[in-house]
Amino acid sequence: MNQSLLKRLFKTIPSEESLDLVKVAQEIISEERKKGHTNLAGDLEIILKKRLTRESSKPKGKVVPLHDIPTDKRYKIPLAKYVDREELRHHMILPASVEEKIRRIEDEYAGRERLAHFGLKPRKKILFYGYPGCGKSMSAERIAWNLGLPFLKVRFEAVISSFLGESAGNLRGIFDSVADYPCVLLLDEFDYIGKKRSNSNDVGEMHRVVNILLNLMEEYSSPGILIATTNLESSLDTALFRRFDDVIEIPLPSENEILQLLKSTLSSIKISNKINWKKLAERLNGYSAAIIVKIAQDASKEAVLKQDLPVNELHLLRAIEENKETGK
Ligand SMILES: Nc1ncnc2c1ncn2[C@@H]1O[C@H](COP(=O)(O)OP(=O)(O)OP(=O)(O)O)[C@@H](O)[C@H]1O
Ligand SMILES: [Mg+2]
Repeated sequence: MNQSLLKRLFKTIPSEESLDLVKVAQEIISEERKKGHTNLAGDLEIILKKRLTRESSKPKGKVVPLHDIPTDKRYKIPLAKYVDREELRHHMILPASVEEKIRRIEDEYAGRERLAHFGLKPRKKILFYGYPGCGKSMSAERIAWNLGLPFLKVRFEAVISSFLGESAGNLRGIFDSVADYPCVLLLDEFDYIGKKRSNSNDVGEMHRVVNILLNLMEEYSSPGILIATTNLESSLDTALFRRFDDVIEIPLPSENEILQLLKSTLSSIKISNKINWKKLAERLNGYSAAIIVKIAQDASKEAVLKQDLPVNELHLLRAIEENKETGK
């Protein structure tokens, strides 16, 4: 391929989202090197490196850390991703009992120095589990938001997709990188490793990776908070559960929370005063928070685009009907 075309192509590689693309790019580089095109291979390597460490993949604002995000050795793919503070979701509607538990985590962290005077430690290793779309990942983001901590999300697909024997080192690299760095480290959909372990052809390797993860969690004593999420708690290694200071279930919203979710999503739009909220909440019993939010948004969009404001019960009922397959 024409050299300048190749360079232009490399400059379009998105920073960190396309693992497969990065691997193909690496293969092109080694092919070119094999052909003796060392200058071109070198140039392409520099371009790729720049793309992978672009500003967008680094934290902005006050929370710039002193260290770099660890990458896998072979492809230099970042093993974790920063989410900027402005992007953290944090307006949550939760049952009082769950709200209290999450607030306790935040209060203990905020009061960690006072606790330390008495030889006490804050809860730092948390597991959220429950149905999809009920706010597990969002709870982790909200904790980071409320505590003003940087938010770092482990990219399991990058950790695990590496070559045999490298996954464990990748995991260790992530834990080492936060050893002195206060942040919320999110192991989102944590069961990824457990699932891979049973599906993988290389059970031995995955078994080792799970064990390394157990040890890393056991030893975790960083100044931040470690949060894992799963919606398949039964598929998780029971040994993992014991590693957490707090295991919190995020349940489906009750009727009261359903109403709050609807009303807060509709808060910036005109709504009819003839809506039978109780009836709607009953219809939405058993739906996840994510679908309820989507239903309220769908109803609003329809009313706006059809110039049929205020949002009325019919808009909402139509949106419920459309989302009913995914809702339960
Ligand atoms: N408790 C909640 N309060 C307000 N909004 C919520 C809540 N839970 C979920 N949502 C809405 O649903 C979306 C998805 O939430 P989130 O990603 O936290 O779900 P999850 O439990 O992590 O789901 P999954 O198991 O699929 O990863 C959020 O962006 C938000 O719009
Ligand atoms: Mg999630």
